[in-house]
Amino acid sequence: MTSTISTVGILGAGRVGMALARQALKAGYDVKIATAKPPTEIALMVDLLAPGATSVSADTAARDSDVVILALPLGKYRTLHPENFAGQIVIDAMNYWAPTDGTIAEFEDEASSSEVVQRFLPDARVVRSLSHIGYHELEEQALPPGDPERQALALAGNDAEARRLVAGFIDRLGYDPFDAGELAAARNFDGGTPIFGGRMRLDEMRRLLGEAPLVGEAAE
Ligand SMILES: NC(=O)c1ccc[n+]([C@@H]2O[C@H](COP(=O)([O-])OP(=O)(O)OC[C@H]3O[C@@H](n4cnc5c(N)ncnc54)[C@H](OP(=O)(O)O)[C@@H]3O)[C@@H](O)[C@H]2O)c1
Repeated sequence: MTSTISTVGILGAGRVGMALARQALKAGYDVKIATAKPPTEIALMVDLLAPGATSVSADTAARDSDVVILALPLGKYRTLHPENFAGQIVIDAMNYWAPTDGTIAEFEDEASSSEVVQRFLPDARVVRSLSHIGYHELEEQALPPGDPERQALALAGNDAEARRLVAGFIDRLGYDPFDAGELAAARNFDGGTPIFGGRMRLDEMRRLLGEAPLVGEAAE
């Protein structure tokens, strides 16, 4: 089982996948990136947009990386092969966006979409993160530890060791990690919450997320 992260696999070579690839390379990680297409079809684009990253197949990115980031349209999550993710730390950055994904009943209730993804990938150690920051901001807003303007990024997942490792990854990307706890806590930083799309430092995020009742839970 992974005890440190050195290789990052990214599924999705669009806006988010490429921004993440560049930022992870800058932070010193080995980066593998894939779409559903053969790697030769994206190799030139990857060389241009994220030089230093390796184009691989989706199977390789998922199986042969210390952490796998899901950066594909959420509506396509069922095209993933669950057997590739057994035991893997998976960062789910995907958001439900009906105008793009179409209306999908299973994402219409108050549970986080990552809870659905975790059920589909039962043996993966799913951590929701990197989902509440815009792709264009990810590189622009990164700052070194201790900078007073440094932003926080929330994470949630059911595996404490996976959360710890993802927190270290977030820190190296240039953000203060905030561990919100179990995966259901991701509801509190999904679309429609003040965290989503908002710039926030760690103290403010701690205040908001630390005190918030879970979205969907009946008020006492
Ligand atoms: N846009 C943002 O600022 C933002 C921020 C946070 C999170 N997100 C979420 O991040 C995800 C990606 O957003 P995006 O804006 O980067 O989308 P995008 O630009 O449309 O890119 C999606 C990428 O996923 C690939 N893909 C499709 N099916 C795949 C599969 N089965 N396996 C691997 N790759 C596959 C696509 O490749 P093809 O060329 O083969 O289709 C494409 O490279 C979405 O779920 C979105 O909600 C977006």
